[in-house]
Amino acid sequence: MKILFAASEAAPFVKVGGLGDVMGSLPAELCKKGIDARVILPLYSAIKPEMRDKLEYITNINVGNSWRNSYCGIFKAEVKGVTYYFIDNEQYFHREKVYGSMDDGEIFTFFSRAVLEVLPVIDFIPDVINANDWHTAMVPVYLNAFYRDREEYRNIKTVLSIHNIEFQGKFNPYVLGELFGLDVCHKSLMMYDGDINVLKAGIESADIVSTVSRQYAEEILHPEHSFGLYHILNARREKLRGIVNGIDTDVFNPATDKAIKTKYDIKRLQNKRFNKSDLRKQMALSDSEDIPLIGMVTRLTSQKGLDLFYPILGELSKLPAQFIILGTGSEEYENLVRGWEASCHEKVRGVVMFSSEMASKIYAGADIFLMPSKSEPCGLSQLIAMRYGTIPVVHTVGGLKDTVMPYNPETKEGWGVTFQSYDSYDFLDAVKRAIGLYYDKENRKAIRKNAMSRDVSWDNASEEYIAMYKELVKGDN
Ligand code: GLC
Repeated sequence: MKILFAASEAAPFVKVGGLGDVMGSLPAELCKKGIDARVILPLYSAIKPEMRDKLEYITNINVGNSWRNSYCGIFKAEVKGVTYYFIDNEQYFHREKVYGSMDDGEIFTFFSRAVLEVLPVIDFIPDVINANDWHTAMVPVYLNAFYRDREEYRNIKTVLSIHNIEFQGKFNPYVLGELFGLDVCHKSLMMYDGDINVLKAGIESADIVSTVSRQYAEEILHPEHSFGLYHILNARREKLRGIVNGIDTDVFNPATDKAIKTKYDIKRLQNKRFNKSDLRKQMALSDSEDIPLIGMVTRLTSQKGLDLFYPILGELSKLPAQFIILGTGSEEYENLVRGWEASCHEKVRGVVMFSSEMASKIYAGADIFLMPSKSEPCGLSQLIAMRYGTIPVVHTVGGLKDTVMPYNPETKEGWGVTFQSYDSYDFLDAVKRAIGLYYDKENRKAIRKNAMSRDVSWDNASEEYIAMYKELVKGDN
C-alpha cells in the first residue's frame, strides 16, 4: 500500500511543533511494517544546511492556480528508509518563519496544488494521501475539484489529520477566485461563518478525518473544544477517528541520549539522579537530593495552561520543590516565567529559549513534569517524560487523558498525577500530591517504573493507521 503524507513540517528537516515530530517518526514506522509511506514538504530556507546537503534534485514543473503559473522545483531525500519529497519555490518558501506570514494563504494553496501536480512526475500515485492540519487541507478539496477525471487520480483516497483544531486557515471570501482558484460553485464548501475556512473545507472533502487521540476526537464534537467546528464534525462523525500518537523511542531514549550526562534505563534507574545534579549545577540551583525538581518544557501559551500559574505563584514558591520552565511563546508568559524566577531566585528558573538539548536535560533531570494544558489534542511531552521516568502532572483533557493514568498507591497501578477541572487550585493540589509521592520512597520507585514501562512507541498506533488506510482502500473495491 502506498501512502503520501502531505505536511508543512517534518523532523529532522524542519520542526516547529508536534506535527514535525509525528511526520518525522510515523512514516518510518509504517515503512518498517511494509507500507510504502512517503512524505512531501515545502523546501523552506529554514531547513538546516546539513540536511539540505542530502537533497537530490529531480526536476521542475510549473504549477498553475488561479491566474498564477509558478515555478515548482522537486527534490528528494531519504531518511530512516523514508523518501521525503520537497517542493521548491523561492518566492514562497524562502523566509525565516514557517508560519504566520501575511501570504500564508497563497503559500499553502500553491503547496497543495503542487502536491497533486507532482504525483505523475515523481511516479508515485498513492492509494491514500494523508494531509495534516489546515496547511494541507486544500489537497482533498483540489483533488475533488480538479483531478478526479484523470485516470491516475481517480482512486486516490484522502485522510485529513487534525493536530490542532484551533488553527483553521480563515480568509476573506473575496479571495475565493483570485487566491484559491475556485469559482462560485465551490463557495458553500469553502465558506463557514462568514469566512473562507480551509480546515472546514478539508473536513468535508476528505474521506476520513483523523485526530491524534481518542479523547480529542470526542471533545471536538462539542462547542468548548472545537473552535466553532462542532456542527461540521457532528454531521460527519462516522468518518471521524482518534489515534493516539507515539514518539520516536530511538530519539527519546535515556539509555542513549547524547544530551544527558549519565545514561540510564529502567534497570539502572538510580543513575537518573546524576542528571538531576548536573542540571542543577548548570542552572545554579542548590543540590539536595531531598528536594524534588519539577520541570516543564512547553510553548509558553495559554493553551498550555500558563494562565493557571498566576493566582498560585506565591503558594508554588513556598512548596518544598525547585522549578525549571523551558520554552518560548507569547510575551506575556515569557515575562511571567522570567518574573517568577526573579522573585524566587533560590528555587525557580525560567529559561526562555528553544533548545532540544536543554529539553532532554530537563526530561532526564526532573522528578516531576508539569503539563496543565487547557486543551491538548495529544501531547508528546508527557510521553517523553514517561519514557525518562519523570512523573507527569496533567489536566485530564485530550490526549493527556488517554495517556496518563493516575497513580493509585493502594494498587500501585498508574504512572501520573491528574486534575479534572481547569482550575489553579486543583492544579496546585495535583502538584502537592506529586511532591507527596516523591517523598514516599516506595511509591516513588513504583510510579517511576510504571511510567518507564509504558509503550509510548509508534508500534501500536501505526497498526491503527494501517487499519484505517486498509478500511479506506478496501471500501473502494
Ligand atoms: C499539535 C498538538 C499536540 C499534538 C501534536 C502532534 O502540536 O497541539 O497535542 O501532540 O500536534 O500531533
